[in-house]
Amino acid sequence: MRLILLGAPGAGKGTQAQFICERYKIPQISTGDMLRAAVKEGSELGLKVKEIMTSGGLVSDDLIISLVKERIAQPDCENGFLFDGFPRTIPQANAMKDAGVKIDHVLEIAVADEEIVKRLAGRRVHPSSGRVYHVEYNPPKEEGKDDVTGEPLIQRDDDRESTVRNRLGVYHEQTAPLVDYYQQWAAEAPDVAPAYHRVEGVGSVDEITRKVIQALEG
Ligand code: AP5
Ligand code: ZN
Repeated sequence: MRLILLGAPGAGKGTQAQFICERYKIPQISTGDMLRAAVKEGSELGLKVKEIMTSGGLVSDDLIISLVKERIAQPDCENGFLFDGFPRTIPQANAMKDAGVKIDHVLEIAVADEEIVKRLAGRRVHPSSGRVYHVEYNPPKEEGKDDVTGEPLIQRDDDRESTVRNRLGVYHEQTAPLVDYYQQWAAEAPDVAPAYHRVEGVGSVDEITRKVIQALEG
């Protein structure tokens, strides 16, 4: 299965990706996680993108497109993959179309902006695995520690409220047009376009997982 998770920052893409990838045995391709790993390593790529990410802007299309093309050529992507946080602009979506990358499903997780600010303020992450928690809504078994490794959880640099507002603005301007893009494509060419599903992202994590599975298998 090849699928795209579409949604605002904090909509729950990373959270639901964990369940979906486990269920369908496909790798999670989170461009955000890949870029954060590069920043942490201090690689050339990391140095280039650090400031943009901290401010909540988008990294250039060319850079992201080549990163993703290289990633999906890896052997573990043969049976499918999940895109989390990509495509994020019309040129990124067109690049996949032009390269003939066939996607089965686009799944939009819809959450209102006010809810997102609350979610991101309480988010904690395990950087090396990408596992996501929330101090109140989805707490780890032991405070401040990852459930699997016991390693410390951290707060992302871009989760400060002013940066979150900036990320939301960028989302509405540059990423939200993809909702129309994929809906229109699905209506015009249902045999080649990905199927489009929209799931309301407010409710418990388990409830949303059930809705996601129903959308994909229903
Ligand atoms: P990226 O890492 O992709 O961030 P994002 O899209 O802003 O999304 P988030 O990771 O913030 O949210 P999420 O939807 O995964 O939510 P989560 O599951 O964590 O990108 C970061 C940066 O990298 C970008 O700003 C950009 O600079 C760059 N970048 C990345 N991709 C790019 C691209 N393609 N092009 C250009 N630049 C790119 O959940 C959030 C919180 O809510 C958690 O605490 C979670 O526990 C909690 N939560 C989840 N579900 C629920 C629920 N149902 N109820 C209550 N709380 C919940
Ligand atoms: Zn994420």
